[in-house]
Amino acid sequence: MELLDGKKTSSEIKEEIAKKVIQLKEQGKKTPHLAAVIVGNDGASRTYVNAKVKTCEKVGFNSTLFELPDSISEADLLAKVDELNNDDDIDGFIVQLPLPDHIDEHKVTLAVSPSKDVDGFHPENIGRMMLGLPCFLPATPAGIVELLDRYNIETSGKDCVVVGRSNIVGTPMSVLMSRNAKVGNCTVTLTHSRTKNLAEVTKRADILIVALGKPEFITADMVKDGAVVVDVGIHRIADDSKKSGFKLLGDVKFDEVAPKCSYITPVPGGVGPMTIASLMLNTLKAIDMK
Ligand code: GUN
Repeated sequence: MELLDGKKTSSEIKEEIAKKVIQLKEQGKKTPHLAAVIVGNDGASRTYVNAKVKTCEKVGFNSTLFELPDSISEADLLAKVDELNNDDDIDGFIVQLPLPDHIDEHKVTLAVSPSKDVDGFHPENIGRMMLGLPCFLPATPAGIVELLDRYNIETSGKDCVVVGRSNIVGTPMSVLMSRNAKVGNCTVTLTHSRTKNLAEVTKRADILIVALGKPEFITADMVKDGAVVVDVGIHRIADDSKKSGFKLLGDVKFDEVAPKCSYITPVPGGVGPMTIASLMLNTLKAIDMK
């Protein structure tokens, strides 16, 4: 079993981006600028957004974080999005999800200018992805593709099973793994809460990508010997023995599944850092696409 080390791979990507930023500056070009909007006080969301901002500093990007209260109205949030769409200094921005219940996430996603949508969530970017046209790919699926690519994982002709059909991960992941590309050409099965005999399906997977949001849901009996397993889940579980008061678990029961795998992503240090690296790559792309 070999780890698909997202932390190490994302560090390599960040070094590559930092070099590119130096080149841009030497050419007298603008410093890339990523903005992030966070609404409310969700601890996990704050951790993720802070990691994104910190990574901007590491690679030499400018970054701006807008922290808005839980009580903000949908109209005021849409006005903020509009302001960022029209701010020429900002190359790309994200609105961290989830949003409070009184705000319609779809409305917000639609309001982001497709040319600044470095999360790749806007229907225009999703549609372009479906057609194989230049676009911003959603950061988590794109990060997984990059990780599989950098580890030279053979995907052509393989059976890939994706567990979970979210708009952010599962659904776009199934599209990317089935397209005609270096990482792709899989026979993809997209599974969800209504899938019958899930364990039988997951056991057929040469490549198993798990993004359903349930801690340690995938157990050893659901995985084929020699499979490549990618765990997108990340859950904070209370643990008094930790200084932070919690431990992090994925959607895969790592200790029992890992020995069966050819490759597996750890949690933390697998998909999470790759998502952030992809976001940085998308921000560079935003400048190229201008
Ligand atoms: N919430 C969970 N993942 C993401 C992500 O990739 N982008 C945004 N904006 N919100 C998220």
